[in-house]
Amino acid sequence: MAVAAAAVAAAADRVATKMADVIRVEQLQRVYHLGAVDVPALRGIDFAIPQGQMVAIMGPSGSGKSTLLNLLGCLDRPSGGKYLLAGEDVGLKTDDELAEVRNARIGFVFQNYNLLPQLTALENVELPLVYRGLSASNRRRKAEAALASVGLGDRKHHRPLELSGGQQQRVGVARALAGEPDVILADEPTGNLDSTSGQEVLRLFLDLHRAGSTIVIVTHDDEVALYTERTIHLRDGIVVSDGPIPSEQRRGLDERGAS
Ligand SMILES: Nc1ncnc2c1ncn2[C@@H]1O[C@H](COP(=O)(O)OP(=O)(O)OP(=O)(O)O)[C@@H](O)[C@H]1O
Ligand SMILES: [Mg+2]
Repeated sequence: MAVAAAAVAAAADRVATKMADVIRVEQLQRVYHLGAVDVPALRGIDFAIPQGQMVAIMGPSGSGKSTLLNLLGCLDRPSGGKYLLAGEDVGLKTDDELAEVRNARIGFVFQNYNLLPQLTALENVELPLVYRGLSASNRRRKAEAALASVGLGDRKHHRPLELSGGQQQRVGVARALAGEPDVILADEPTGNLDSTSGQEVLRLFLDLHRAGSTIVIVTHDDEVALYTERTIHLRDGIVVSDGPIPSEQRRGLDERGAS
């Protein structure tokens, strides 16, 4: 009986975890100080993102999208308000703890890929795993699996300059997902890519989403947003709209690869 009760409790726990918000921000603010001038980039942002959701953050240039993503990715600290990541108040953490949270929970994909040019694709993907204290063989295995999952198993010994832009970004996605993060954050991940390579990268995000990943994509591009479930629009550092993409407008697997 005790075993059955424990199993029920564990299942309830899993349901609770599944339903929980991975990201919750409350009155989040970020003011940059430029000399004597204060630049209020975020002026009180509220939203929650449940586990497994795929969200687009949109808005005009300067509206605060990258500032917000950097806060969500624990690359920066808020000036005010609260950020709960997987239920934990990030604001209460020391810098070292924050670095640990970032490494363990966040996968970041950058517009300009941010790969180290002197390292091979495999070494680039392995790098964040070094800070996890994994054995070398374990790191290699995870990095190889991540590269294979983005279709680059045969390019693992190439350096970034020996890869196309689309392939470099796929390495960037592999690096983000190799550590099995709670959340994947991407800032204009298709911004430097031609439309075919951009679609390939979006396809990877969709596959990850279908496998249960929580994904937040900053984009200027309405087309990109149609691959997501929900769009949060920012303007002048506040949320001006937040709602679902109607399912009839959403891009699915079927439409992709059509071009
Ligand atoms: N390091 C910084 N120091 C001072 N001001 C900054 C800094 N970074 C951003 N800002 C200002 O904060 C505001 C929001 O910038 P942010 O980069 O978040 O915009 P964005 O929505 O990502 O724009 P874009 O679409 O052009 O990338 C802008 O007014 C910007 O000038
Ligand atoms: Mg930006």
